[in-house]
Amino acid sequence: MRIITTAGEMRRTVEERRSAGETVGLVPTMGFFHRGHISLMRVARHECGFVVVSLFVNPTQFAPGEDLEDYPRDLSRDVEMASEAGVDCIFHPRVEEMYPEPYLTYVAVEGITERLCGAARPGHFRGVATVVAKLFNIIPAHRAYFGLKDAQQVQVIRKMARDLDFDIHIVACPTVREEDGLAMSSRNIYLEAKEREATTVLYRSLRLAERLVAQGERDAAKITEGMRALIAQEPLVQPEYIEAVDWELLAPVQRLRGQVLFALAARVGKARLIDNVLVEVED
Ligand code: PAJ
Repeated sequence: MRIITTAGEMRRTVEERRSAGETVGLVPTMGFFHRGHISLMRVARHECGFVVVSLFVNPTQFAPGEDLEDYPRDLSRDVEMASEAGVDCIFHPRVEEMYPEPYLTYVAVEGITERLCGAARPGHFRGVATVVAKLFNIIPAHRAYFGLKDAQQVQVIRKMARDLDFDIHIVACPTVREEDGLAMSSRNIYLEAKEREATTVLYRSLRLAERLVAQGERDAAKITEGMRALIAQEPLVQPEYIEAVDWELLAPVQRLRGQVLFALAARVGKARLIDNVLVEVED
């Protein structure tokens, strides 16, 4: 497995593979791999002839006071895990390679970035869209793989790719969870033992939503209130938002129909955790 640090060499490498007729897959990450990341690499490995993983802790998606400096990193472990997953190449640029001074150009996806995590983290999706647009240009892949754990991110990237005519297919992959339901996240490492136990209420509340929909409930507020009441039983878990939104535009819904995303964010100790389930509502 090769590790490439410059945009020029990375682009040349991918262009060679494309000319040789290979399908190129890209898995963008910020490293500190867990089974969620590895699952994306495995799907890419299965579908593509050449798999590139980008590993870059992107400063522009962190607001001042967020965990950019503390974000967990372990390059040698990541290299080992990616190699084991059959990845061909890691793109690991330095900050100056991605954002040469003076850096002046950003990508803003409107509307859907203002809700859910976008409301709590202003500027976050501008940073995500900018770095992913840059990665799509440096690594002209046929397919790019993203996790539904970050459902809003998936929709932001889909809209950006469509609106800016990137010729790349966005593949959304299912959320990988711990045995007790907690969605895997690099940030779970911030949790202390008691907090870690308390977090199981998050997925339980999402399963409650699924169950209520299956029983015929179509009033979004009734379901989110039920979720809120369940989460309130865990004082260590402080919800930031609990919402039912339509899957296309992530706008709040009152009556459930079509594809509905139940999404939540919560603070647990030092960690800010997010999770969601996508539900197909029958009329
Ligand atoms: P990061 O948090 O490292 O996640 C990289 C990819 O792994 C994302 O597509 C994310 O949705 C996916 N992922 C994380 N946890 C997952 C889980 N439990 N199950 C399935 N997939 C999971 O997301 C980012 O990095 C950044 O915002 C990035 C897109 C790389 C731009 O900087």
